[in-house]
Amino acid sequence: MDISILGIPMDLGAGRRGVDMGPSALRNANLDAALRALGHQVRDLGDVPVRVPETLNKYQDQGLVFLEEILSACTGAYERLRDLDANTFPIALGGDHSVSMGTVPGAARGRRSGVVWVDAHADFNTPGSSESGNIHGMPVAHLTGLGDARLSSIAGDWHARPEDIVMIGLRSVDPRERELVAEAGIKTYTMKDVDQLGMTRIAQETLERLGHLERLHVSFDADALDPVVCPGVGTPVPGGLSYREGHLLMELFAESGRVTSLDLVEVNPILDVRNQTAEVMVGMAASLLGQRIL
Ligand code: ARG
Ligand code: MN
Ligand code: MN
Ligand code: MN
Repeated sequence: MDISILGIPMDLGAGRRGVDMGPSALRNANLDAALRALGHQVRDLGDVPVRVPETLNKYQDQGLVFLEEILSACTGAYERLRDLDANTFPIALGGDHSVSMGTVPGAARGRRSGVVWVDAHADFNTPGSSESGNIHGMPVAHLTGLGDARLSSIAGDWHARPEDIVMIGLRSVDPRERELVAEAGIKTYTMKDVDQLGMTRIAQETLERLGHLERLHVSFDADALDPVVCPGVGTPVPGGLSYREGHLLMELFAESGRVTSLDLVEVNPILDVRNQTAEVMVGMAASLLGQRIL
């Protein structure tokens, strides 16, 4: 397969600094070599330009922190991915999870796409429901067309349909956000569901539910995994996916041959231990892209 890597070194959507170094950490963990070893052709497109926060006056635009800068970085990522060859498999490196407002539609390249959101959080806040004002808690709502009109129109009138979205690993959802997720009718698997049903069944149900779609995007937030596995994240929540649950999900997706693009986001090297989180996330990407045990 032809794989294109794009970095979005941005932490403007997060409440803590450091995920802007995520792309470097993932490259340093030998993402490209791991994928080449699986027989893929890998091209690194470099990084999308992102403003440096120290050069900006931090301001709140209707409760949205760094809205203009996030908009411009997401638009950059969107355009870069949108213009890739339709057969290319894009891997976007965050950056905080707000980057996905650009990477999801960019990877979709104008077509309808399923979205598997692997995350401790639903990231379904709107500016009105958010308690933090941090845009990384809002990307999915904006992908579906809710929220701020500028953030929800990064890809023009392309939107993800709520019925095409599945969330896996949830264990921290804000009270008003919970109502929005329910109203939208998005399929969710909380950690309780993971414990009860097991990852095999969840992977099967997800692939079945999204079976009508030709494109499937996996947006993998490092905080979906347990903080013991991935300590380098800004919003850790205990009780997350085990190392094997993460790999099993990726392995079953790989077997299906259906996933067409990937985000690796929220890796925070400042909070990490010897780049462990980036290494684990590179392992997840390798499993999704065909690494086998035997
Ligand atoms: N729900 C919280 C908020 O909206 C946390 C979001 C965390 N999101 C993330 N991508 N790490 O602020
Ligand atoms: Mn997230
Ligand atoms: Mn998260
Ligand atoms: Mn939360």
